[in-house]
Amino acid sequence: MTTHGHPQGAAGTNLDPWYDNYAERSAGLSASEVRALFAVASRPEVVSLAGGMPFVSALPADLVTGSMERVMRDQGAQALQYGSGQGVPALREHILEVMALEGIRASVDDVVVTTGSQHALELMTKLFIDPGDVVLAEGPAYVTALVVFKSFQAEISHVAMDEHGLIPQALRESITRLKAAGKKIKFLYTVPTFSNPAGVTLTWERRVEILEIARANNILVLEDNPYGLLYFDGAPPHAMRSVEEDGVVYLGTFSKTLAPGFRTGWALAPHAIREKLILANEAAVLSPSSFSQLVIAEYLKSADWKGQINTFRGVYRERRDAMLVALRDYLPQLSWTVPNGGFYIWLTLPEHLDSKAMLPRAVKELVAYTPGTAFYADGNGRNNIRLSFCYPTPEFIREGVRRLTTVINGELELLNTFAQTAPLQTIRAEHGISGPPSDLG
Ligand SMILES: Cc1ncc(COP(=O)(O)O)c(C=O)c1O
Repeated sequence: MTTHGHPQGAAGTNLDPWYDNYAERSAGLSASEVRALFAVASRPEVVSLAGGMPFVSALPADLVTGSMERVMRDQGAQALQYGSGQGVPALREHILEVMALEGIRASVDDVVVTTGSQHALELMTKLFIDPGDVVLAEGPAYVTALVVFKSFQAEISHVAMDEHGLIPQALRESITRLKAAGKKIKFLYTVPTFSNPAGVTLTWERRVEILEIARANNILVLEDNPYGLLYFDGAPPHAMRSVEEDGVVYLGTFSKTLAPGFRTGWALAPHAIREKLILANEAAVLSPSSFSQLVIAEYLKSADWKGQINTFRGVYRERRDAMLVALRDYLPQLSWTVPNGGFYIWLTLPEHLDSKAMLPRAVKELVAYTPGTAFYADGNGRNNIRLSFCYPTPEFIREGVRRLTTVINGELELLNTFAQTAPLQTIRAEHGISGPPSDLG
């Protein structure tokens, strides 16, 4: 420190006198598109199809308060105390029951409770990534996983997906290319079920094939599965971890099937990795919240948690349907994915449109979405949009899509004004569209 309180030998900037002192890895911590959006999208007049906030109002408050009261009455001192770095054993037992629904058999010793699955992602990255190491990530991939990988200076190499999830041949080709270039591939990151942001699900055959490719090439698979139990039209294939124990680290969470405010998730890992995860967890937070863990354990013991998951499924199914119908009615010329669960639809715009550049116009029309580029580390996704159907009501979803149509047509008209070539088609709604509901601003 200098006597003026400025970092030694650093000029800094007007905005941040410490600018020159940050570690190199902090350069990877740029504000994501999603984050910048939250501020705007939270204004009540904006229909936000941007964030991935679960609709926690569908969880009856007394289910939670009842569990909280019993925990404070019977285990208050433990709930308010530090706990183990691996997590409360009773909760880990219940987590085995939750994972069994997706075909996973495991030992309670192999579960590590974390502060949300986001924290498990960070711990795994910290344990495995040196600067320049490669993370293979499905493309498009969950934006905040990419932020973590970048913050540990990983090189992110995307593997293409289609409507059936990751493409095995694309994975083979990526591995061959990266190995030939002398790169160290540390793991494959994937959300195989109801992916964020694409909303697609990896087929069973591909799950098996991808695990074989990973095994043959000594590549660990990081299976992130927050949405698997939130299916709409029939259960998805079992988790990849149900096939392969040694080569998969599986991440789960209570954020979507209960509530994200508990900040409680978990990692299921092979023995050796599990030991490292516990140490890394202790180094980061000493222990995950005892209070949250005990309340969730009590909830799982006493409440009809499977019935509650069914309630969530019903809510999200209705919203997914509302979005699909609105897209069909308002934007029939475009294409999108049809998710069988989860929170997201991936929309493809006409090729000339840039979804990020279009965002200010969208905000002006009072609708928000997440531009596709947020989900790629390589600038891809320009003419894609992630639409979330989890939070707004079906009426707002329909109105949001109507506003989006105005935005897209406005952009197409603008491009036509300046285009030298043949005019681009604006999008005409199909048959009988009703106006916006009167209670929407
Ligand atoms: C794919 C994926 N992974 C991880 C997370 C983080 O969830 P958690 O609340 O458990 O930290 C999310 C949250 O949206 C997600 O979509």
